[in-house]
Amino acid sequence: MATVRQDLSPPGAKSASAAEFMLPKTLYLSREVAELEKRHLWPRVWQVVGRVEELPAVGSYVTYDNLDESIFVIRTATDKLQAFHNVCSHRGRRLLDGSGKTQQIACRFHGWRYNIDGRIQTVVERGDWAGCPHMSDADLSLKSVRVDTWQGWVFINLDPNAPPLAKYLSPVPERVDPYEFEKWRYRWHKAVIVQCNWKVAVEAFNEFYHVTATHAQLQQYQDDISRCELHGDHSMMNYPPELNRMWGAPAARTGMPVPKDMRPQLVAGVDEFERTLKALWSPRAVAATHRLMTELPPDTPHEVALGKMMQYWKEAADAEGAGWPTITPEQVAKAGYDWQVFPNFIFLMNFDAGLFYRIRPNGDDPGSCIFDIWSLVRYVPGAEPEIKHEFYERWQDCELGLILTQDFLNMEHVQRGLKSSGFTHARANPLQESPIINFHRAVRKYLGIKEGEELG
Ligand code: FES
Ligand SMILES: [Fe+2]
Repeated sequence: MATVRQDLSPPGAKSASAAEFMLPKTLYLSREVAELEKRHLWPRVWQVVGRVEELPAVGSYVTYDNLDESIFVIRTATDKLQAFHNVCSHRGRRLLDGSGKTQQIACRFHGWRYNIDGRIQTVVERGDWAGCPHMSDADLSLKSVRVDTWQGWVFINLDPNAPPLAKYLSPVPERVDPYEFEKWRYRWHKAVIVQCNWKVAVEAFNEFYHVTATHAQLQQYQDDISRCELHGDHSMMNYPPELNRMWGAPAARTGMPVPKDMRPQLVAGVDEFERTLKALWSPRAVAATHRLMTELPPDTPHEVALGKMMQYWKEAADAEGAGWPTITPEQVAKAGYDWQVFPNFIFLMNFDAGLFYRIRPNGDDPGSCIFDIWSLVRYVPGAEPEIKHEFYERWQDCELGLILTQDFLNMEHVQRGLKSSGFTHARANPLQESPIINFHRAVRKYLGIKEGEELG
């Protein structure tokens, strides 16, 4: 067996075997694989439903659909969330749509009613069933689903035997909790349909190897040699400082020198992200970055300018009253930059803003998925923007900005390319795309298929 390079995995994590980086295209195209995922993967994993701030009051609810399942999460007490299958016990009508607030759950078909804690309240003409079995209050109450939260994110799991959320997520919380996501709120949320397999979409965001070619405009401001850590089914991507120029400098591969005056570079880099992504920096931090030009001399060393820039961000957050995380440089290094939480939750973070993705299949078509994007910011409590959910049947109709548009174009081009008779296997980079290899290990484990096995 050929030897492949090791990824920078923590001790104990497996590196990719020579064959493991070869991924049969059927994984993304086959209805048989999609069916196995529907039966063995989605019913057993913790899935993000939304944010706690969408459930502010008793009776606030959000619904979450994936494939044939519809679940709703509802606040049943000031300190309690519950989740239920979103289906009426009478003849199976869906009960709730979207999100909202209610003090009882009424079925629109024949008028049965449930309390918000799922107990049956009213069966219209209940006497008609006199003497019938399967008609006790316990039989008719809504079927509960496990729900838990992490840092403001609400998760559900359909499997009563799955590990608790904290254990499932480990070690993500111990690495990332210092960022205090629970204090962040919606800047925007967009959900779009993309014509590609959900795994193609996940994989467009769990490696940085594509950044140089896909997001060439970013080379002006950031170096691009990535490394990854594999943590069980989850992965982390990072730009190790020892392999990269400091942020703001042009990528080494461009051959461009590091400018003597880094101030305009840093300002332009942050402005570029704001203009083309509207995420990862709070608008307040973007504005504060401009202090570099007026308060520092042109010959300020790069590392000093970077330190000052972060100081300005913190000062702006403190001045507004938004707050700032207490986080040490060691914690920043351990947290890395970009995480994939198996199977379909991916996020990148800065000190007071982050970008979060959730990807799920769009019905039974293996060539279509639903992609949610959340831009979160740490706002002054009480001064958050109103929560808005945007949904687009075609991602091309959504204003995503240049960076995400570049990614989304790749996804649909990949899905088309996979169908070519001239293509049989993807070849994931064992070093800089090890999260993709790790992701497929975990998928195979849930599906019970062997490495290299081709289905459908
Ligand atoms: S299906 Fe809900 S009341 Fe009949
Ligand atoms: Fe990208």
